[in-house]
Amino acid sequence: MANTVPDITLNDGNTIPQLGFGVYQIAPEDTVEAVGTALEIGYRHIDTAEMYGNEAEVGEAIRRSGLDRDEVFVTSKLNNGFHRPDDARKAFESTLAALKMDHIDLFLIHWPLPTRYDGDFVSTWKTLEEFQRDGRARSIGVSNFQVAHLERLAAATDVVPAVNQIEVHPYFGNEEVRAYGRAHGIPTEAWSPIAQGAVLDDPTLVDIAQELDRTVAQVVLRWHVQRGDIVFPKSSTPRRIEENFHIFDFELDDATMERITSLDKGEAGRQGPNPDTFDYIPA
Ligand SMILES: NC(=O)c1ccc[n+]([C@@H]2O[C@H](COP(=O)([O-])OP(=O)(O)OC[C@H]3O[C@@H](n4cnc5c(N)ncnc54)[C@H](OP(=O)(O)O)[C@@H]3O)[C@@H](O)[C@H]2O)c1
Repeated sequence: MANTVPDITLNDGNTIPQLGFGVYQIAPEDTVEAVGTALEIGYRHIDTAEMYGNEAEVGEAIRRSGLDRDEVFVTSKLNNGFHRPDDARKAFESTLAALKMDHIDLFLIHWPLPTRYDGDFVSTWKTLEEFQRDGRARSIGVSNFQVAHLERLAAATDVVPAVNQIEVHPYFGNEEVRAYGRAHGIPTEAWSPIAQGAVLDDPTLVDIAQELDRTVAQVVLRWHVQRGDIVFPKSSTPRRIEENFHIFDFELDDATMERITSLDKGEAGRQGPNPDTFDYIPA
């Protein structure tokens, strides 16, 4: 079985490689090398954000790779301090300037921040719609949106988010938000797909990995893709970047999928902040 990364078709007709490379917590000085390694191995989708402080280095790595701009799918996200429409416009221009690109493939509202901005993320979303209309963002989406936030957008706007990027891993299935996405044509992007390493010593996962002669990270990433979600594990370690790419040449049977899904601890399994209360704005 060849290790080929499938494309997922979004509700706006664009496609995204189901496996990408995440660059959260990669220091800017290490980003060119890490992204360069990922592109050499075959990744064609990079997930960055204004908040990560490494957009410029992502752009640099793509240029140095010798690949055409259109061969690499690039996502970035609006920083939390810039939800007001005029600030969002300036922030989006800064993203394109940092990347040295005239368009981005996917731009997201990073967090809904329902306790900030008088609870208004609708005008922020309408501002992202402008970027899509003028062609500078091929697709637009959201991140960390709960069902109530998605329902509010659906009631107040016409453009359905192309993705919702949320925390998902075996300890936190986030099933209600995923189910809303499935029902409304919004693919889930699963962030922290291996829970930043927290699931790697799980005895059930270790057993499954041994049975299949794979690593735990590969088994968990494979579980995500068989559920239809989009993933972009982060690693600064070349061996792991390579390992995480090789997940399309084996399959988990239904019983194994269920064993992994049943590790869900509900809210207790969440590793990151709860989007209903998260209100962080970087200085
Ligand atoms: N939208 C959001 O709010 C949000 C929030 C968090 C993350 N994200 C996105 O999701 C991406 C992935 O999430 P994440 O970075 O939080 O966590 P993650 O990908 O679940 O885990 C990354 C951690 O796991 C280690 N690791 C990676 N591959 C491994 C392997 N094969 N074996 C053992 N350890 C391995 C890495 O270590 P080394 O680097 O030392 O190898 C790193 O410490 C981010 O980079 C970012 O793009 C988005």
